[in-house]
Amino acid sequence: MPTEQPARRGRFITLEGIDGAGKSTHLTFIRDWLASRGVDAVFTREPGGTPLGEDIRKLLLAVDSQVSLNAEALLAFAARQQHIDGVIAPALAAGRYLVSDRFTDSTYAFQGGGRGIPFERIRVLEDWVQQGLQPDLTLLFDLPLDVAAQRMSCTRTLDRFEQEAADFHQRVREAYLARAAAEPHRFAMLDSSRGIAEIQADIAIHLQNLLERG
Ligand SMILES: Nc1ncnc2c1ncn2[C@@H]1O[C@H](COP(=O)(O)OP(=O)(O)OP(=O)(O)O)[C@@H](O)[C@H]1O
Ligand SMILES: [Mg+2]
Repeated sequence: MPTEQPARRGRFITLEGIDGAGKSTHLTFIRDWLASRGVDAVFTREPGGTPLGEDIRKLLLAVDSQVSLNAEALLAFAARQQHIDGVIAPALAAGRYLVSDRFTDSTYAFQGGGRGIPFERIRVLEDWVQQGLQPDLTLLFDLPLDVAAQRMSCTRTLDRFEQEAADFHQRVREAYLARAAAEPHRFAMLDSSRGIAEIQADIAIHLQNLLERG
């Protein structure tokens, strides 16, 4: 009789960084890397990841949206709740990997660092919505603002956050760095000012370590 393999525990990976840091660029690499090792993975993003979440994303990113400070954070967490309930928790429970382009560190960085909502207030929402759920690995793509801005300028129309002034993005970057320093076991810091191949060699090491953790 064939022995049944115990289900491999699902892993939760998040990608974070200022706008233009390279998250979307490296998502494809991560997808290929995991697929080549036979890892069953779901790829998703925030805000978004569900039909309701994608509608909320549009409200949050539209340049003409009139969203108050706390409403912005609450909308982000409403989308996140739907995402967790409908996508993230079921995937992890089924033993799948789940990779999200942004998660709660983005709320700390943008609404906390960028807009100035106290981190303790965000933590209340995080506890309520996540009930202890945390990523196993967060890849933080870090680079100077001017490099990110230069990379973005040739490729897109800027959304409501991307249109913010440089000091906003500087506070976002600093909030990310502070979070990474506070939780070194979860965060992998990647110097994203380097070339794509160099960064991806590092990403592969972090993914391999996660895989070996079982
Ligand atoms: N290491 C790199 N070297 C040079 N260019 C890069 C590098 N990484 C990404 N880019 C380019 O920079 C631009 C922004 O990258 P990307 O869209 O992946 O960032 P992002 O973090 O997903 O941004 P956003 O948060 O706005 O979605 C793209 O044009 C991409 O091709
Ligand atoms: Mg992107």
